[in-house]
Amino acid sequence: MKIAVLPGDGIGPEIIAATVLVLQALGPRFNLETAPVGGAAYDFSGHPLPPATLALAQSANAILFGAVGDWKYDTLPRELRPEQAILGLRKHLGLFANFRPAICYPELTAASSLKPEIIGGLDILIVRELNGDIYFGSPRGIRHSEHPLFPGVREGFDTMHYSEPEVERIGRVAFEAARKRSKKVCSVDKANVLETSQLWREVMTRLGQDYADVELSHMYVDNAAMQLVKAPKAFDVVVTGNLFGDILSDEAAMLTGSIGMLPSASLDKNNKGLYEPSHGSAPDIAGKNIANPLATILSAAMMLRYSLGMTAEAERIERAVQKVLTQGYRTVDIFTPGTTQLGTHEMGVAVVQALS
Ligand code: IPM
Ligand code: MG
Repeated sequence: MKIAVLPGDGIGPEIIAATVLVLQALGPRFNLETAPVGGAAYDFSGHPLPPATLALAQSANAILFGAVGDWKYDTLPRELRPEQAILGLRKHLGLFANFRPAICYPELTAASSLKPEIIGGLDILIVRELNGDIYFGSPRGIRHSEHPLFPGVREGFDTMHYSEPEVERIGRVAFEAARKRSKKVCSVDKANVLETSQLWREVMTRLGQDYADVELSHMYVDNAAMQLVKAPKAFDVVVTGNLFGDILSDEAAMLTGSIGMLPSASLDKNNKGLYEPSHGSAPDIAGKNIANPLATILSAAMMLRYSLGMTAEAERIERAVQKVLTQGYRTVDIFTPGTTQLGTHEMGVAVVQALS
C-alpha cells in the first residue's frame, strides 16, 4: 500500500509525524512516501503543488495530508498561494466528495461553547461537493465595471455553477451515506435567490425518489447556519455545495468543542482519497509541539477504512483515540482542569500505546 504523505505548512509536519507513528505501529504494511506541498513546496521549488508531488499523489493508493498556509505567503499571487495545492489536488484527482463528520465525544462536551444538552451525543455528517461551484467557475477575475452607478471602476467577479450530473453524483454519495446512518438527508442551498440552487434543489428532489427509505429535506443556507447552533442534533447527513459546505463545516466542527478532533476524507468516484484534518495549518502555534494530532490520526483511520479496505485496523485506531480521551489525556485545545496535558508528539505516543 503506497501512501503519499504530504505534511505541508504550519503544524502540518508535527501532526503528520504523530500520525505516522500510529501507522507504523500497525506493522510494516505501508510504503510511506513524503513530498512537500503548499508553502513548503513553494519555498523548495517555486510552486505549491510541484509536478513530482502531484505525480506521487496520483500514483499512491491514498494521500495523507497535513495542512497548508501561512501568513508569510499572503502577498503571493493567488496561483502561487499554498491553498492552490489543496484545490489543485482536489481538482486533478477528481476528489469531489468531501466527508466532514462532526462528532461530540462525551469526554469533551465541556470544551464546546454550546450547552451540553445541545451538543451531547452529536453525530452529524457534512457531505460537501468539492470540485465545482464558485470555487472553480469561470469566468472570474477583476475587470472594469459596467455598473450604471460606478462605470469604469474595478470590480471582482466569480461564477457559481453546478450541472445536473455534478449535483446528482454528490447527492447519491449523501443518500448512500445516510442509508448507513439515521436515514435523513438535509440538502442545503439558497434556492430563494440563486438559479444554481434552484437546479440543485430540483435534482436533489428527483434523486430522492430513488431513495424512498431516506427522509429528504431542504433548507436555505442561512437557516441551516442558524439551526446548526440551535438544534444540531436534528441533522443527520447535510449535503451541500462547495462554498456553503466550506462555511457550514467549520461551524459544525466547532460545535463539538474542538476542531482539533475532526477528520475529513475527500474521495473520487473509485474511493481513492485524500485524508486531512478539518482544521488548518495554525501557523501561530507551529513548531511548539502543542497542536492536537487526533484529527489527523482519525483521518488516517478513515483512510484505512475507505481507501485501503482495512476496517479492523481503522476501528483499532478509533478505539485507541477513544481510550486516550478516557484516560484523561488532552492537548491544550481540549484541556480542562483535572485532565493531563500532553504535547503533539506525546499524544501520538499515547495513541500508539493505547493500540495494544
Ligand atoms: C477547507 C479550506 C480550503 C477550502 C482552503 C484552504 C482553500 O478552507 O478545506 O475547508 O476553502 O476548501
Ligand atoms: Mg474551510
